[in-house]
Amino acid sequence: MRRRATLFLCLTTTAIVMLCLNGPASGADVSPAAWQLDSYCRGCHTTLHTQWKTSMHAQAFEDEIYQKTLNLAITDLGGPTNADAKDLQVFCLSCHVPIGKLANDLPPTTASSATAVSCDFCHTVSGTNGIGNASFINTPGDVKRGPYFDAISPAHDTTLSTLHTQSEFCGMCHDVYHPTNGIPLEQTYTEWKNSPYAAKNIQCQHCMMGEMRDTQAADSGPKRKVVFAHFFAGGNFIKGNKDESLKSLKSAATIKLITDKGNAKPGDAVKVDVTLTNSGAGHKIPTGLTETRDMRLIIMAISATGQQTKVFEEKFGTVMEDAAGKHDGTVPVWRAVKIFSDNRLAPEETRAYNKTFTIPAGAKASYRFEAALKYSPANQESTDAIGMKRLPFAVMASAAQTVLLPGKIPTAASAVKSSRVVPWFIWVGIAAVIAIFLAGTWMIRRKPQA
Ligand code: HEC
Ligand code: HEC
Ligand code: HEC
Ligand code: HEC
Repeated sequence: MRRRATLFLCLTTTAIVMLCLNGPASGADVSPAAWQLDSYCRGCHTTLHTQWKTSMHAQAFEDEIYQKTLNLAITDLGGPTNADAKDLQVFCLSCHVPIGKLANDLPPTTASSATAVSCDFCHTVSGTNGIGNASFINTPGDVKRGPYFDAISPAHDTTLSTLHTQSEFCGMCHDVYHPTNGIPLEQTYTEWKNSPYAAKNIQCQHCMMGEMRDTQAADSGPKRKVVFAHFFAGGNFIKGNKDESLKSLKSAATIKLITDKGNAKPGDAVKVDVTLTNSGAGHKIPTGLTETRDMRLIIMAISATGQQTKVFEEKFGTVMEDAAGKHDGTVPVWRAVKIFSDNRLAPEETRAYNKTFTIPAGAKASYRFEAALKYSPANQESTDAIGMKRLPFAVMASAAQTVLLPGKIPTAASAVKSSRVVPWFIWVGIAAVIAIFLAGTWMIRRKPQA
């Protein structure tokens, strides 16, 4: 009997201990102060901190687009006191401000709970309950979890976490499902999982963090063969790290453009064949919050005098439908009940566009055909909805070819001539100098005779 009681006690204690280890730190200190500030980590991990500071992870809470969208959602659901609006806010914060959520300090009131996706949040993730919707398990404290089995630090304990080296780590937040009806709102992880990259064992970390060779992970640490950078640069070249984001965007896609002739004359139909390939992204393009993003292919015909004609344009993204069947591109994700359309490019997918352009009468010299894939972090509908100015576009990929036509361009030639016109006062000046010179020589010649 006593044996049984002891066994029971042992089992319950083990269960409680297991819960303490796995659960979101039940029983342990989960006040905001349980997580350390990034300014503390900066002391020894200077390079990684400088990189992270420019990332969208560091800004996921204060990010203007996020804040304004959240406010719009709250207003749309009946204001801050409405129960649905409150639930939704907690949902949003679970990824954008995970420490605030774990510490139950919402909206966040301390520096620690407001530091978005911070160093200490990521490096105290101790497990996962699956993919998507903030499925992380987090154990704040002295143990920092990372890719090394042999790291020794004067400031904290360390332990190897293979989870940190796998895409599943990113997948905890980079798959978002509607909290009540479950439809996919973001699926960057799943897009990767279904791609050739997953089959080739190329993890999110390999491209989105990027390897730095033969350097230190900590200022006082040993030189390591590989240290992963912490830029986490995606497409957001406006709010995130501009240079790194443009690099990411430019490495995602390639375009080829070929015309069926090199010479043509007015009235001729020129065939313009364009192929667009998702050649470098391990997920669809665009990815993430694609209802908000703006990626489009534009094919232009440009005359020698600069007259531009749009030959073709296509927008890539997901369009949501609400309960009333509306699907005009203005349905916000929280009101979505199904995906109406999705025409994004899967990893390694190529699409061909075969267009024709008739050279207009009177065209001379040449016609240039250009194809460009352009990207903006937010489309017109989204910025209008939150009262923001339209964001600019960056070029992800482009290609061009010129077709020669008979004749010269009159306007350009006359422009060159007119730029050579010498102003009248220069002529007057030159004439005055010559007159003075002539007068001088004439007087010098006359003098000796006197
Ligand atoms: C979004 C989560 C995330 C954030 C935020 C983050 N890290 Fe990391 N960190 C990782 C992952 C994942 C790895 C492992 C990459 C791999 O090896 O595949 C890593 C690796 C490391 C390493 C081992 C060396 C290396 O870079 O490979 C150190 C040290 C480290 N991080 C410190 C920091 C510090 C300091 C900060 C804040 C300035 C920080 N991390 C922010 C996810 C994060
Ligand atoms: C006093 C200096 C110092 C401070 C402060 C510091 N670290 Fe470290 N950390 C180190 C050193 C040294 C290493 C070992 C580096 C190595 O072995 O390459 C290390 C290693 C790590 C690792 C790798 C662990 C592994 O096993 O892969 C992580 C993750 C990490 N630190 C995160 C952090 C975080 C998060 C903070 C802030 C909360 C922080 N560090 C603050 C010095 C420091
Ligand atoms: C705690 C949740 C969480 C985890 C874990 C996480 N992220 Fe993020 N990540 C976010 C949030 C939230 C944003 C959006 C911030 C914003 O734009 O306001 C983001 C943004 C990004 C962006 C920028 C996207 C853009 O449009 O520019 C990249 C790239 C990124 N994460 C990569 C990663 C990678 C790689 C991993 C795994 C190593 C990872 N993230 C793990 C929450 C997370
Ligand atoms: C499961 C994690 C998760 C949840 C929950 C979540 N987000 Fe996000 N959010 C992300 C990630 C990851 C990104 C970056 C996506 C990308 O790559 O485009 C993001 C990006 C965004 C962006 C784009 C920000 C920018 O600057 O481009 C907005 C706006 C946003 N989220 C709003 C919300 C709102 C509002 C909610 C609640 C209704 C919410 N999010 C809930 C993970 C999450």
